[in-house]
Amino acid sequence: MTYRNRRPRRAAHATDVVVLGAGPAGLVLGNILLDRGIDCVVLERAERTHVQTRARAGFLAANTVRILTRNGLAGGLHRRGQIHSTCEFRTEDGRFRLDYSGLGPRERHTVYPQQELVTDLLTQFLERGGRIRFGTEAVTVRDADTARPEVAVREADGRPGTWRARYVAGCDGRHGAARRSLPARAVRHHRDHGVTWLGLLAEAPPSLDAVGYAVHERGFAGHMARTSKVTRYYLQCERGTPADTWSEERIWDELELRMRTREYGPLRRGRVVQRSVLDLESDVLEPLRHGALFLVGDAAGLISPSAAKGANLAVLEAEILAHALIDDLTAGDPEGLDAYSARCLTHIWRAQEFSHWMIGLLHGPSGADGESLFHNSLRRSRLASLRTSRTKQDWFAEHYVGV
Ligand code: APR
Repeated sequence: MTYRNRRPRRAAHATDVVVLGAGPAGLVLGNILLDRGIDCVVLERAERTHVQTRARAGFLAANTVRILTRNGLAGGLHRRGQIHSTCEFRTEDGRFRLDYSGLGPRERHTVYPQQELVTDLLTQFLERGGRIRFGTEAVTVRDADTARPEVAVREADGRPGTWRARYVAGCDGRHGAARRSLPARAVRHHRDHGVTWLGLLAEAPPSLDAVGYAVHERGFAGHMARTSKVTRYYLQCERGTPADTWSEERIWDELELRMRTREYGPLRRGRVVQRSVLDLESDVLEPLRHGALFLVGDAAGLISPSAAKGANLAVLEAEILAHALIDDLTAGDPEGLDAYSARCLTHIWRAQEFSHWMIGLLHGPSGADGESLFHNSLRRSRLASLRTSRTKQDWFAEHYVGV
């Protein structure tokens, strides 16, 4: 009898909490659990270098800084983060600036590139003895409605593996295994905002001492500092535009046109080092809990970058879930877990509502039909009341910098 070279099936791994994904959500969750002695593992499909160098968001709300600080995770951002508290609108009706540190809750943003935050979180997690399996892709979550859910994975060596846990935290983004494993009863609210941005990262110092929002008949343009040497720009473009279509010359000329640099001063040009095309869309999953499986961050809901809320919501939800898991696993108190979904959805929908309002503020249809003209007049009126009404400015500050 010949025996096929049947490599022995690897025994299932076991832990209390399996965290899928090493982004802001997964790493904040993992660090807080580890700090309170909860046995957990983070499964991340990418390699460590990719996780640490991925340039994504970088605009941290005051509450996010508070969360990271009280959990001992803010050393890097306190040392190297830049405080920001002003945004500047440039429109067909002129330019105005809002220093939101004196408005509403009187809070400010901290600009700190996400790849630096993720590197800090990763380093701290590993230094605390945290377990991360890089190159390990979660394939599906099974038996989430039982007390022993399982995560089927493809290990780094390509072989199948299994993780058994008490709970699974889906921090693996909008295309991850957690979303793929949801039962039919899961509801996905989705909106395509009909707007597309060409996202650019330029090796150029910031050109404004503020977040710049330019509203122009040719389309939106945005300016957001990342570091003293790198600036993120956005250019609204036609849907389906390939990222590499525009020459650097055309990119800078268009940015200068839309940001009205003839009136307000030139942009500091530099090499465009990263491009991406982004169709602005949002979605929210309801509920965020399915038995032992919890959705966190982008896995729970995708939000457009118009108000820079994504990473801030991810950190907020991660702390809420961490405390709920700790209460359940150390004190047998399930109340936090039972309330997780409703509590996070309140924050998510509030952020979605403001992000949707921002999209309406910054983008007007270019058509000349009645609907477009009406929408454009609404947009100009919104900007006018933001420019002139202190009540509106307080409301804006509360939602823009709050999470
Ligand atoms: N198995 C394991 N890991 C996975 C899988 C999978 N099947 N699918 C995705 N991942 C990993 C990704 O490689 C990534 O490292 O999950 C992680 C998800 O991280 P993010 O996409 O950053 O999501 P999240 O932590 O929720 O942060 C959300 O941060 O990236 C910013 O602004 C952005 O809104 C976003 C916010």
